[in-house]
Amino acid sequence: MDDAQALFAWACDPEVTRYLRFPSHEDIGDSRKVIERWMAEATKPPFFHWAITIRTTKEVVGSIGIDVQSPHDNRGEVGYCLARHVWNQGYATESLQAVLDFGLQVAGFHRIEACHSVLNPASGKVMQKAGMRFEAGPLHHYYRSDALGYQDTLMYTVFSDTF
Ligand SMILES: CC(C)(COP(=O)(O)OP(=O)(O)OC[C@H]1O[C@@H](n2cnc3c(N)ncnc32)[C@H](O)[C@@H]1OP(=O)(O)O)[C@@H](O)C(=O)NCCC(=O)NCCS
Repeated sequence: MDDAQALFAWACDPEVTRYLRFPSHEDIGDSRKVIERWMAEATKPPFFHWAITIRTTKEVVGSIGIDVQSPHDNRGEVGYCLARHVWNQGYATESLQAVLDFGLQVAGFHRIEACHSVLNPASGKVMQKAGMRFEAGPLHHYYRSDALGYQDTLMYTVFSDTF
């Protein structure tokens, strides 16, 4: 809960949430509710969600997590988000590589997917640099909002036996 202010700092930024499934947070109460949900989910594993911090300063600048899509098939979907002032410094790539490594080598996922809006090519670049392969698209893989509807998305994947 100590990270609520840090979460709010990026989650209230419309540039950050532009292509995401959730609307910008309107006040810190929205951020606290999200953290409360994560804390509740963390008591019932499997739960894979992390804060991204700057190693030297410990500043919390983002989040990354894997949602289990199908426990039987060991399939998950990874998503990530960083505050705008740290973009283009390699942090998303470094975080995604670490999380894929953990997901496939330690947590037991066989397949991990990631999707990005066609309007958000930086995220596709991150997926490629972290070792994911283009699989399909454009797809209407996720719903943005009533105003914006379904997003045209590109899907990338990695598998435990070829990572
Ligand atoms: C997308 C996002 C995660 C990237 O994070 P980041 O820490 O800046 O990513 P990295 O620095 O590791 O890599 C970014 C790459 O995209 C490239 N890039 C940046 N803007 C770009 C653009 N408009 N078009 C194409 N590539 C772009 C960068 O040059 C860099 O590639 P390079 O290292 O080969 O030069 C970050 O912008 C973000 O959090 N955005 C908002 C939330 C979001 O979109 N999350 C992903 C949802 S699918």
